[in-house]
Amino acid sequence: MPEFQTSPGMRDVLPPESARWRRFVRTFDETVSAAGYGQVVPPLLEDIGVFHRVGEATDVVTKEMYDFVDKGERHVALRPEQTASVCRAFVQHRPATPWKVWYAGPNFRYEKPQRGRYRQFDQVGIEVLGPDDPFLDVEVIALGWRFFQMLGLRQVTLTVNSLGEPADRTAFVAALRDHFETNIERLSPESRVTLAKNPLRVLDSKRPADSDVIASAPRIADFHSETARSSFATVLDGLRALDIPFVVNERLVRGLDYYRFTTFEYVGGTLDSAQNALGGGGRYDGLVEDLGGPATPGVGFAIGLDRTLLACDDEGVFAAREQGVDVFVVDTTGGLHALTITDQLRAAGISADRAFENRSMKSQMKAADRSGATVAVIIGSDEAAAGTAVVRPLRDGGEQTSVPRSELTTTLRKVLS
Ligand code: HAM
Repeated sequence: MPEFQTSPGMRDVLPPESARWRRFVRTFDETVSAAGYGQVVPPLLEDIGVFHRVGEATDVVTKEMYDFVDKGERHVALRPEQTASVCRAFVQHRPATPWKVWYAGPNFRYEKPQRGRYRQFDQVGIEVLGPDDPFLDVEVIALGWRFFQMLGLRQVTLTVNSLGEPADRTAFVAALRDHFETNIERLSPESRVTLAKNPLRVLDSKRPADSDVIASAPRIADFHSETARSSFATVLDGLRALDIPFVVNERLVRGLDYYRFTTFEYVGGTLDSAQNALGGGGRYDGLVEDLGGPATPGVGFAIGLDRTLLACDDEGVFAAREQGVDVFVVDTTGGLHALTITDQLRAAGISADRAFENRSMKSQMKAADRSGATVAVIIGSDEAAAGTAVVRPLRDGGEQTSVPRSELTTTLRKVLS
């Protein structure tokens, strides 16, 4: 066992898997760019205060933050998510609204590592700041849905809920607390601890011992104001108009505190229930204000890359593709020709690789085969003397030809087209 390995919950992403990661982000970029979203790249590290607004009562903030005091005595944290960073950037730069942005990158949460749950994990996401319009919620939800379609993932269920206005939520939480305290004897010891911190999170419990008390708990819809009711109805009408199937899940509270009105999750059909949320989001109208900005509505989502790729594996879609070069240059004269030819081809936009260490012809041809190249360009002492190169197709048969070096690029373009 080597002395150094990745820390728990952190992984190396190697080729060809890393190419799939890039393709994942590119597919997301294409999906949301087509809807007018521009990329924002916030730093990995922020003042810890930025993340406190995510929720003082959440595990993400109280237990899982990677925080430390830096050399300038600033208390900073690695971001556990990017919504708070995007809102901080909005307050700092004051761009015109609607501000429609997307992001992709790693986040850090000190969680118990398991399949689909890591301490460093990647997300792609969008946020829109400015408009207070339930049709925007629909646009956001629909873009996530479209992205899963672009990946080819089929077993995804959209669940939606509304947490209502802040006052509705406060009244609901008070009623929940009453209900759970009255029935505390029937709650699991874990849920009793959760209750003391945040009664909403008890609704998340999947422990059988809690199911009866949860089933008889007050329902959020009974606390919705008229505004919350009509906003939620508009969101559901919009989803129906787009033929996006959904399930209303009144127990969907999400793990972060900033949500009001619409919340939603995309749930994967093949993953364990403890980590089957492929992505989630909602409205967070108070967050910009909490971070010192003007009252500004916001809505968005984030989709977990690591977890979604596991779901893709389960469904056999969006597979990793071996990536090869077009041309492999074999040079048995010492390697200088391979150096100049690969450089010339790459400059002409033809992907090319070569072997090193002046190996035998046989060994270089083996390397050419392994490289996945379509064509080998071979230089022996005869070719070197004559200023020519042999072009040999590696895949689908075809005759090898000898061409002058000056015509090599043109010939290869024809062979590869
Ligand atoms: P979240 O539900 O905490 O929301 O995370 C979104 C997604 O990130 C999850 O559904 C999951 O796929 C992935 N994820 C979270 N934690 C882990 C982990 N430890 N390992 C692997 N994947 C993980 C947010 O982060 C909000 N910022 C979403 C949002 C954007 N709300 C409004 N705008």
